[in-house]
Amino acid sequence: MNLPMEKSILDNRQQAIAALRERFGARLSTVSGVRDHHAKDESWHHPHRPDAVVFPESTEDVVEIVRICAAHQTPVVAYGTGTSLEGNVIPHLGGVVVDLERMNQVLRVSADDLDVTVQARVTRMQLNAHIKDSGLFFPIDPGADASIGGMAATRASGTNAVRYGTMRDNVLSLTVVLSDGRVVRTARRSRKSAAGYDLTRLFVGSEGTLGIITEVTLRLYGIPEAMAAAVCSFDSLEGAVNTVIQTIQLGIPVARIELLDEVQMNSLNRYSGMDHPVKNTLFIEFHGSNIGVKEQAETVQSLASDHGGAEFKWATQTEQRNALWKARHDVTYANKALRPGCEIWATDVCVPISRLAECILQTKEDLRQSFLTAPLVGHAGDGNFHLGFLIMRDDPAELAEAERLNERLVMRALAMDGTCTGEHGIGLGKRKYLLAEHGEAVSVMRQIKQVLDPHNLMNPGKIFPD
Ligand code: LAC
Ligand code: ZN
Repeated sequence: MNLPMEKSILDNRQQAIAALRERFGARLSTVSGVRDHHAKDESWHHPHRPDAVVFPESTEDVVEIVRICAAHQTPVVAYGTGTSLEGNVIPHLGGVVVDLERMNQVLRVSADDLDVTVQARVTRMQLNAHIKDSGLFFPIDPGADASIGGMAATRASGTNAVRYGTMRDNVLSLTVVLSDGRVVRTARRSRKSAAGYDLTRLFVGSEGTLGIITEVTLRLYGIPEAMAAAVCSFDSLEGAVNTVIQTIQLGIPVARIELLDEVQMNSLNRYSGMDHPVKNTLFIEFHGSNIGVKEQAETVQSLASDHGGAEFKWATQTEQRNALWKARHDVTYANKALRPGCEIWATDVCVPISRLAECILQTKEDLRQSFLTAPLVGHAGDGNFHLGFLIMRDDPAELAEAERLNERLVMRALAMDGTCTGEHGIGLGKRKYLLAEHGEAVSVMRQIKQVLDPHNLMNPGKIFPD
């Protein structure tokens, strides 16, 4: 719900909207349906409508939008697909949402250099469809079909990160519009550079608080000769997690190694019409040559067997593999379907791999003692996992319990020298943990924010605690 605002603020916003309307005409909308659509993301956080939504078609359009909003002290929030999980794109202080929907062109592909430049609103699936015939692929795959710009902004990852890294490792360069209208390109396309500060990495993960990303240059990879996925059920959660830990410690280059607990497997089976055993399970994928894949698979199967894992159930055909990963990517939607009317409070911690079993087992003990249900799923090979609390957002007791369990989980991860978010970002939901994680470094982050956005107009109120 939007609360009443001071008159001067309202006047400023009305002036910004009038100026934007003059410049952008029908590409500026104040229609309530459009504002409602841009009031939320896929998190449990309460929606808040922007004052207006504008649809740029170029970096130059974004420059004009930012300049107009700055002249009228109006917040600017960039929007890709609205699939963030911590309220990252919710315009919780109102202002203008910049929906990059029309900036959806693949600008150039270089198969010889294995890189590509896209406009920010190209989605990950769109990109992969575009480059498929060149024998290349882009591996970063958060659950949703997110935009590349949004993925860069939240430093996203997904199931392939254990082999291919996260957005941190795969963005070569960005074009960013700053709060004063300057446009910067953060790097050239060379794979290495030692020239000056690494602004690419500063903007990756900045969640729209330092500027608006309009173009992204990414690394690409050759589609491997062989790819095979396997499902392996375990009698104990501990056995499944220890298999992952040893796989990583032995340096086996698995492409994906995902952990799903029995609650998550039940949810996935129902939603995706599968019939896997309702047990703690690993979904594992191997990439390489035929021989390499076979060798990796034998080693991991033998580790799994040592830890009470069943025989691998293989998905080698492309359709089977795709169905398996589609089901995995749909877990948030599957969990939502478990309890009609609920919201998913998806949380996300990441710990050093040797601490993963301990972290997960303690977390499961918390859940056992709680009245809330929360499937557990994770990119276990990275030490990263999620709980998806099934909550009724308007029930204070449920919210308080999710909050309590989440806080215990975050503090547990921090105590293990891990992080309060491996991939979803801080957004609104993790702000209160930033200081606990980063201490004095937060004061440096604040200084950077102050210099690049002195009037606090770029996605204001995100990342930093009040
Ligand atoms: C996933 C989201 C929740 O891993 O990050 O499906
Ligand atoms: Zn995830």
